[in-house]
Amino acid sequence: MPEERLKQYSALVEAGLERYLPQETCRHSRIFEACRYSLLAGGKHIRAALLLEFYRLCGGQPEDALPFACGLEMIHTYSLIHDDLPCMDDDDYRRGRLSNHKVYGDATAVLAGDALLNRAFETMLSQRTVAAEPAMRAAACIARCSGLYGMIGGQVQDLALEGKSASDEELREMVSLKTGALIRAACVGGVLLAGGTAAQQQAAEAYADALGLAFQIRDDILDVTGDRAVLGKATGSDAANDKTTFVSVYGLEACRGLVRRLTLQAMTAAEAFSDREFLQKLAEYLARREK
Ligand code: IPE
Ligand code: IPE
Ligand code: MG
Ligand code: MG
Ligand code: MG
Repeated sequence: MPEERLKQYSALVEAGLERYLPQETCRHSRIFEACRYSLLAGGKHIRAALLLEFYRLCGGQPEDALPFACGLEMIHTYSLIHDDLPCMDDDDYRRGRLSNHKVYGDATAVLAGDALLNRAFETMLSQRTVAAEPAMRAAACIARCSGLYGMIGGQVQDLALEGKSASDEELREMVSLKTGALIRAACVGGVLLAGGTAAQQQAAEAYADALGLAFQIRDDILDVTGDRAVLGKATGSDAANDKTTFVSVYGLEACRGLVRRLTLQAMTAAEAFSDREFLQKLAEYLARREK
C-alpha cells in the first residue's frame, strides 16, 4: 500500500486502454499505432487511479468507472504528446521512449493527440455501466477541466510565463490549471459518477487542489534533480526553455518544504473519508516519487 492498490488499478486501466483503443488494420492504421505508442507506454496512471478510488469511496464498483478512468488517461496522454512538440516544450523523450513526434513526425503527433481527445469522450459517452445522468455530469466536469477553464488554459499561461517573472498568485494559478485541473477532474469526476454528496465533492476538490500543486512542484524538482533513466524523460527541460516554475522562483529547498506542506494538506482533506488509507498513502508516495 499504496503501491499494491495502485498496481491493481494500473493493470485494470492498461487492459481497458487496450480494449478501448485497439490496433486496427486499415488504410490509416499508422495513426492507431501512433496513439497506442504513447498511450500504452507505461504511465503511472495516477489520474485513472484517483477516479476509480473516489468512485469506490462513494459506493461504486471501480470496474464500472473504467471507461471514464481510461478516457481521462487518453486526455492526459494527448496533453503530453502536444506538450512535447517542438512548438511547446520540445522534448525528445517521454515515458522512457522517444516522444511521439520524434517517431511519427509533428503532423501525426498533433493528430494522434486530437484523436486521443475525441476517443476519450467517445469511450466515456458510449459506456452502459453508469447511468446517463451521473455519466453526463462527470463527462462535463472532465471536459471543462481539460479545456479553456482547465489544462489548456494552464498550458497557455505556462508558455506565456517563459522568460518572465511571476507573482505567487500567477504561479499557483498556472499550475493549478495546467496540472491541477486534470487531477481535480479525476477526483471530482469519480464522486460525480458515483452520485456522491456535496460534502464528498468538496473533500475531493480540497484533496485534488493540494495534491495537484504538490505533484507539479515535485515534477519541477525532478526536472532539476531527477535521473532521466528513472524519470523516462529529459531533465533540464525547464531551464532550457526558460520556464517560470516553483523551483525557478523559490529554489529547491523551499519547494521541498512546499511539497511536504501541500501533502499534509491533501492528507487532511482525505480525513473526510473513513476509508482514507489509499488517498493518504498515495499523497505521501507521490511526494517522494522519483518518476
Ligand atoms: C506528467 O504527468 C505531466 C505533469 C503534469 C507533471 P505524470 O507524471 O502523471 O506522467 P505519466 O502519465 O506518469 O507519464
Ligand atoms: C505539463 O507540465 C503539464 C501538462 C499539462 C502536459 P510539464 O511540461 O512540466 O510536464 P513534463 O515535465 O513535460 O512531463
Ligand atoms: Mg509543459
Ligand atoms: Mg513538458
Ligand atoms: Mg515538467
